[in-house]
Amino acid sequence: MFSPSTYVDRRRRLFEADEPARGLVLLLGNELSAMNYADNPYPFRQDSTFLYYLGVDAPGLAALLDLETGSTCLYGANPSLDDVIWRGEHPTRDDYADAAGVSTTADRSSLAADLADARASGRPVHFLPPYRPGHKLRLADHLDLTPAQVADRASSSLCRTIIAHRSQKESVEIDQLEDAVETTARMHRYALRHARPGTTERELAGTLAGLADAHGAGLSFRPTCSVHGEVLHNHEYNNTLDTGNLLLVDAGATSPHHYAGDITRVAPVGGRFSSRQRAVYEAVLEAQVSAIDAIEAGRTFRDIHLHACTVLTEHLIDIGLMKGEASAAVEAGAHALFLPHGLGHMLGLDAHDMENLGEDLVGYAPDQTRSDQFGLHALRLARPLAPGFVVTVEPGCYFIPALIDQWRADQRHARFINYDTVEDFVGLGGVRIEDDVLVTETGARVLGPNIPKAPDAVEALASAG
Ligand code: GLY
Ligand code: MN
Ligand code: MN
Repeated sequence: MFSPSTYVDRRRRLFEADEPARGLVLLLGNELSAMNYADNPYPFRQDSTFLYYLGVDAPGLAALLDLETGSTCLYGANPSLDDVIWRGEHPTRDDYADAAGVSTTADRSSLAADLADARASGRPVHFLPPYRPGHKLRLADHLDLTPAQVADRASSSLCRTIIAHRSQKESVEIDQLEDAVETTARMHRYALRHARPGTTERELAGTLAGLADAHGAGLSFRPTCSVHGEVLHNHEYNNTLDTGNLLLVDAGATSPHHYAGDITRVAPVGGRFSSRQRAVYEAVLEAQVSAIDAIEAGRTFRDIHLHACTVLTEHLIDIGLMKGEASAAVEAGAHALFLPHGLGHMLGLDAHDMENLGEDLVGYAPDQTRSDQFGLHALRLARPLAPGFVVTVEPGCYFIPALIDQWRADQRHARFINYDTVEDFVGLGGVRIEDDVLVTETGARVLGPNIPKAPDAVEALASAG
């Protein structure tokens, strides 16, 4: 945990925020969640907002923040003798409260009664949208709502305030993100060096998970580690690497305080890009580097996204996959055949940071609306950037047979796409290059140590073995 004053200061900002103005804020910590029977739970992951304001990384807790008095009560149970016998000694509720700078604690069993008292005296109870069924049931139970009502009554004013706080990373958070990227870099260097014919995706994915566990606090998300990088979130590891494949690894480790790394690299199996692979790889790399260079506070991420799409399209025109004028092709959405996702997202305690609070609330300013154009619609982050934001920059280029077949059959954007050439590239898979970037007062800084991405440097690692 950070120092108690970190959490006191964060809660003070919540108390002083313009919205929500009155009532109580209920923050639920997570519970252990059974995988296949109760005593065999998934690894515990605390709720990120609970971690942000309380820091306590243990199941079975809740906090009630009184917006009128500025006081916080931490609810939880002390370890029972049975807990000690089976799980060992653990901190008490008061130990956790001290670490979080909280002066009032209560047994978990009194939370429902305290909430009932608040409601009886007409005080609003603000809570976050549930993302686990267990949250929804607990909220329904505590607030005398049906589970269906819970989602509707979650507090968007609370979400907006929390998003404003968590978007602006403090220096202790940047340190954690650097730490996460350090472990993530270790994973990627390993993958680049071991992209060898005969290695299986499963062996690699297992080793990457081991590195995240051994040097960090585990994985940020289930990695993609595949020679089928055209499947955007490919979570299967059934292939054996073969000379000439492109291996795409999108993986990240978490730091000790659960901040997420999220990085993608691509390696030529056998150590050499083919000329087609190299051309596509260089197109994506130029789009990525140019997007990072274009980042500045005040500029919208939507603008940076469109800039990256235009750079990519210029290269795809040079390669012969596209034709016409790049900016017109991007405006029409023709490039989305190759890049159907957005340039990136916020990064922090979550890989897709705060997305449980509402993807549009996190990613779009009130005066921005999400496009309904294929490709642009998938842009998670569009809003103006500010110093302290940490974002991913992750353009890609994919040859997705089902998408190509459908567009070709419809002759979609035929004015901008050379479908015959596209057919020649089917089987290449996908290329994505992703880094984690801090927006600064003067531009942007890529977090963590260098992870090779220039094609020659990638080949050198992949052929060194
Ligand atoms: N790893 C998921 C993403 O890059 O968004
Ligand atoms: Mn990623
Ligand atoms: Mn990402």
